[in-house]
Amino acid sequence: MNGRIVSAFVAIIHLYICPCFGENYILDDKVGLGRKFDGIGGLSGGGATSRLLVNYAEPYRSQILDYLFKPNFGASLQILKVEIGGDAQTTDGTEPSHMHYENDENYFRGYEWWLMKEAKKRNPNITLIGLPWAFPGWVGHGKNWPYDFPDITVSYVVSWIIGAKQYHDLDIDYVGIWNERNFDSKYIKLLRYTLDKSGLENVKIIASDNMWEPITFYVLLDQELRDAVDVIGAHYPGTTAVEEALKTNKTLWSSEDYSTFNDDVGGGCWARILNQNYVNGKMTATISWNLVASYYQDLPFGRDGLMTAQEPWSGNYVVESPIWITAHTTQFTEPGWTYLQTVGHLKHGGSYVALTDQKGNLTIVIETMTHNHSICIRPPLPAFTVAAQNATFSLKGSFGSVTQLQVWHSKFNFKTKKPSFFQKLDPIKISNGSFTLSLDVDEVYTLTTLTTGQKGSYPEPPASAPFPKKYKDDFNVKNPSFTEAPNFADQTGVFEYYINLTDLGPHVFTLRQVVTQRPVTWVADADQTISVIGDYKWQNLTVMCDVLMETERTGGVFIAARVDKGGGLVRNAKGIFFWVFADGSYKVTGDLSGQTVLAKGSSGTKAHVWYTLSLSIQGDHASGELNGFPLWKLSVDLVPKNGWTAIGTRSFELAQFDNFSVQAE
Ligand SMILES: *[C@@H]1O[C@H](CO)[C@@H](O)[C@H](O)[C@H]1NC(C)=O
Ligand SMILES: *[C@@H]1O[C@H](CO)[C@@H](O)[C@H](O)[C@H]1NC(C)=O
Ligand SMILES: *[C@@H]1O[C@H](CO)[C@@H](O)[C@H](O)[C@H]1NC(C)=O
Ligand SMILES: *[C@@H]1O[C@H](CO)[C@@H](O)[C@H](O)[C@H]1NC(C)=O
Ligand SMILES: *[C@@H]1O[C@H](CO)[C@@H](O)[C@H](O)[C@H]1NC(C)=O
Ligand SMILES: *[C@@H]1O[C@H](CO)[C@@H](O)[C@H](O)[C@H]1NC(C)=O
Ligand SMILES: *[C@@H]1O[C@H](CO)[C@@H](O)[C@H](O)[C@H]1NC(C)=O
Ligand SMILES: *[C@@H]1O[C@H](CO)[C@@H](O)[C@H](O)[C@H]1NC(C)=O
Ligand SMILES: *[C@@H]1O[C@H](CO)[C@@H](O)[C@H](O)[C@H]1NC(C)=O
Repeated sequence: MNGRIVSAFVAIIHLYICPCFGENYILDDKVGLGRKFDGIGGLSGGGATSRLLVNYAEPYRSQILDYLFKPNFGASLQILKVEIGGDAQTTDGTEPSHMHYENDENYFRGYEWWLMKEAKKRNPNITLIGLPWAFPGWVGHGKNWPYDFPDITVSYVVSWIIGAKQYHDLDIDYVGIWNERNFDSKYIKLLRYTLDKSGLENVKIIASDNMWEPITFYVLLDQELRDAVDVIGAHYPGTTAVEEALKTNKTLWSSEDYSTFNDDVGGGCWARILNQNYVNGKMTATISWNLVASYYQDLPFGRDGLMTAQEPWSGNYVVESPIWITAHTTQFTEPGWTYLQTVGHLKHGGSYVALTDQKGNLTIVIETMTHNHSICIRPPLPAFTVAAQNATFSLKGSFGSVTQLQVWHSKFNFKTKKPSFFQKLDPIKISNGSFTLSLDVDEVYTLTTLTTGQKGSYPEPPASAPFPKKYKDDFNVKNPSFTEAPNFADQTGVFEYYINLTDLGPHVFTLRQVVTQRPVTWVADADQTISVIGDYKWQNLTVMCDVLMETERTGGVFIAARVDKGGGLVRNAKGIFFWVFADGSYKVTGDLSGQTVLAKGSSGTKAHVWYTLSLSIQGDHASGELNGFPLWKLSVDLVPKNGWTAIGTRSFELAQFDNFSVQAE
């Protein structure tokens, strides 16, 4: 018989047998176990993705944190990975370094310390990871490269880990190399050596937070490197690992994944990869970029978080489907559980994994996401089909005596647009060691011996509302909880609260740009510093701010409106920028880089003197005032029609801002 006839014959038998029984899948721990499960996590940073979260008023801020971290409530995350701030733009903003300058150390900047503590408060077992995206300029001695002085870079990173313990009692469990950039074997070995020497033997190393290659190649080749690296972490692996990665015998993680708009297709993406990263690629942890979409939505990759919390001014937040998809695994496992070897694909599409605590507990997660309803942002998803099917699971080994399983169910229901997520169904009875599920497409099931699990909820948060049209900040905060002023989203440079106790005038409390050297960057930061704030839809408004240049001759500061770009595109930001310079001149430009000069002239401005700048725009007409006196007026039909307001400086230089205000129409 030729092959075609055989398969036709098999298909006929199949047809007769299948409709009644469906396919059979065996779950058995006695055939040997699979890999140790390390958890599911979220990534705050890379960059500034939790920026707006910290400004939420209570009780909303705690509610959001509960949905993310509280065990048996929402996503119940098992891993929190944070950026080790490097003063540079790392996707949706900059995050401050603990060492802006070589002789500077401060472990209270930014919000990642706070976030790690809030996560630990809720789940003391949560795994913490730190990873740098960028480094302050001094680390690279002015070169855009962190490995020429590996001892400096290592001690910079290790100081962050020591500071976490010393000032916040946080034990960092894992540290990475340089996000999605080159690694250097010598650097990794020196990092291991220095960690050990500093009493940080328990801190494990992940490498290299990029593709599987070339790190796996070097790990296979170099015994010393193999000893130094604990986990090979790949990004957006598309659920597969290369053969060489498996050959290293190392723990494999998808150390950054997802990055998909968090609607229900995003939830479907997340459901598919959480299972299939193990089924196809033997990855034992998956970490979502990002944890929570808490940055202005018009920045790059808006809403690519497990949930959305981008309106601290209204208190509104949205618990999106990825939260409940995460719960399907996290609420019924713990890091340290083990996958069974008997995991895989379902005959008619979809996948199943099974995990055990090796004390008799079993958790099975099944997903039947169809192709079009589970597309992630990257990589491209090859075609596959999924159909409704009956699946029979036979429990063997330690699980042979299980008599019932708790059932948690999600159904995306793309047709009716009435999804239901994480519903507890009646427990399923196991008769004679097996049970059958009638699976539809686009469903997720958890079947578990654990009787815990909860779909946590809070009363509806306040309704969504735009950024307030009238906004002001005089930065007069005596003991700020955070170093950054609310709602300002730094896109190049770092703007911090500053107190000048020797100031005799009204400017004791100000906001100060503090980065004085171009960082070792991760993307193309602007040559100017800039912090944006407000509503991207704003068109007509007046923005005012008191400004102080601290650099003589070459210093310069601006206020701006209709700023149309941030993130990695910030260099190309357009808008209306009103600058004054320490050389006594002013300019109005149509872009941040200052190339499109719309007006210029003399202003008499100099360093160390406070000035009040005001910029008004109505339709195509803009005007600027200096200390209340009209300085310029022009038609601006070529600039963007809308955008954020902003403040900033001409270069990486110290400068201060006070009494920021906007009145928008
Ligand atoms: C922390 O882990 C221990 C050991 O696995 C477990 O007994 C405990 O319940 C966990 N605590 C939380 C809050 O998950
Ligand atoms: C991985 O494990 C296998 C089986 O134990 C062993 O033969 C192989 O040498 C190991 N590979 C490395 C790189 O250690
Ligand atoms: C399952 O887990 C629960 C809760 O951690 C525990 O009490 C129980 O002993 C475990 N084993 C079985 C067989 O249920
Ligand atoms: C999936 O999407 C593609 C592109 O939009 C479309 O052509 C195709 O018909 C869709 N498939 C299904 C099963 O809906
Ligand atoms: C599943 O089994 C039920 C009952 O045996 C049957 O009615 C149904 O058609 C089956 N579904 C599929 C998709 O085979
Ligand atoms: C239980 O399963 C075994 C093995 O598959 C079979 O021999 C036996 O007849 C079944 N018993 C019942 C009551 O279905
Ligand atoms: C602080 O205030 C004093 C007194 O006004 C002034 O001389 C000094 O330049 C200020 N320092 C900074 C950094 O602004
Ligand atoms: C600027 O703010 C200071 C407090 O920082 C305040 O005393 C002063 O009146 C404000 N000036 C203006 C023009 O609003
Ligand atoms: C801004 O002003 C222009 C000119 O007055 C007007 O046409 C436009 O509708 C205004 N935009 C908004 C959002 O109010």
